[in-house]
Amino acid sequence: MSVKIDLHHLAGFIDDSELSAIAPQVRLAHETLVNGTGAGNDFLGWMDLPEKYDREEFARIHAAAKKIRTDSEVFVVIGIGGSYLGARAAIEYLQSQNRNALKKTGPQVYFAGNSLSPSALSEILELCGEKDFSINVISKSGTTTEPAVAFRVFRGLLEKKYGKQGAAKRIYCTTDRARGTLKQLADREGFETFVVPDNVGGRYSVLTAVGLLPIAVAGADIDALMAGAAEERAELNGDASSDASCLYAAVRNILYRKGKETEILVSYEPRFQMMCEWWKQLCGESEGKNGKGLFPASVVFSTDLHSMGQYIQQGRRSLFETVVLIDKPAADLTIEEDADNADGLNFLSGKTMSYVNRKAFEGTVLAHTDGGVPNIVLSAPDFSEKSLGALIYFFERAIAISGYMLGINPFDQPGVESYKKNMFALLGKPGYENEKANLEARLK
Ligand code: PA5
Repeated sequence: MSVKIDLHHLAGFIDDSELSAIAPQVRLAHETLVNGTGAGNDFLGWMDLPEKYDREEFARIHAAAKKIRTDSEVFVVIGIGGSYLGARAAIEYLQSQNRNALKKTGPQVYFAGNSLSPSALSEILELCGEKDFSINVISKSGTTTEPAVAFRVFRGLLEKKYGKQGAAKRIYCTTDRARGTLKQLADREGFETFVVPDNVGGRYSVLTAVGLLPIAVAGADIDALMAGAAEERAELNGDASSDASCLYAAVRNILYRKGKETEILVSYEPRFQMMCEWWKQLCGESEGKNGKGLFPASVVFSTDLHSMGQYIQQGRRSLFETVVLIDKPAADLTIEEDADNADGLNFLSGKTMSYVNRKAFEGTVLAHTDGGVPNIVLSAPDFSEKSLGALIYFFERAIAISGYMLGINPFDQPGVESYKKNMFALLGKPGYENEKANLEARLK
């Protein structure tokens, strides 16, 4: 069930001597991670999660998901960044970005509190309408503005609809084990709580209750998801020289040092789009610091070949692509013979769309490498929970190793605070008075 890596399309961009030269650095970064001796080593809880998760809480997640699937037509997941992207990426990977319209079993699942857009929040309120709904507010700190604003709105709506006591049975909080405003509020009001472990950062939290409750409510098999991650963990627990996550980390660092400063994650499956967003946070927040780091971008082909394809083929040569292929599509179609052949497509008769999609990949990888864009190719077997668990674990591990190779702490995110301080000052939050006038003057 492992994630495979194919470096065939790096020929002409990287040679074996470069891989040999970087091998000691990969080994060191790998050891630093595995031995827990590097910067940010108090945030390594994700490494053992697939095996060592809290079984009691896991059972409560199952029970809560069962209740929500019975008593709710809509489930609103409130969170931002690492408290949002993993759950949404997983649900869309497993059930498609059209899951709500496709009327999969269980409630419609919507995401709120991931922006400050009043239009976006109003839309989710409208989608709840008169329907029975429950909410899961997810915030490790319990103080993040975007989810806090949305929570205030949805909590108010629930209390109006079901009364204070009824609402309390429909509010699920995923937050710190002991600290923070949200935890205090939940304990006071009797909301069920789930834990974001102290030693797991937001972008590494999808395999905790942060991701697992929404994923289970959507009807996916979270036991299989954990099993897939556990298998990948076992697979990667060997020697750094034969480890696909180490190889991926090595290659992206070699390319970065050769001036390929933008990595584009490529998928040929629209349901992978939110996985790209999750990956972008994982890479961007882990590596983008101290003036360093690959810029993570993403495209979905063949869609974006008709928009970004031109740039990738002939624009600035500072790019490389990492393609994620899923071997087996969630469904397939066969193109039928047409008696008139007015569209000239009979040469495709009898061919499946997955075959055509594969040829699109093959044509594109050859064109892009001809155009000077190195390609790494990763693959996972299918759209199952097990494959997803493997992909999640693979990327988490690879980016941690890659970050250590870059010489940064892959597990902090000090830069995220800057905009918050300015926003609070401009909004007049108590305690930020000194900065306010200065910032306002700069905006004039
Ligand atoms: O990865 C991270 O740490 C961030 O993206 C956070 O998850 C995000 O800022 C939300 O934080 P919180 O869960 O504290 O509300």
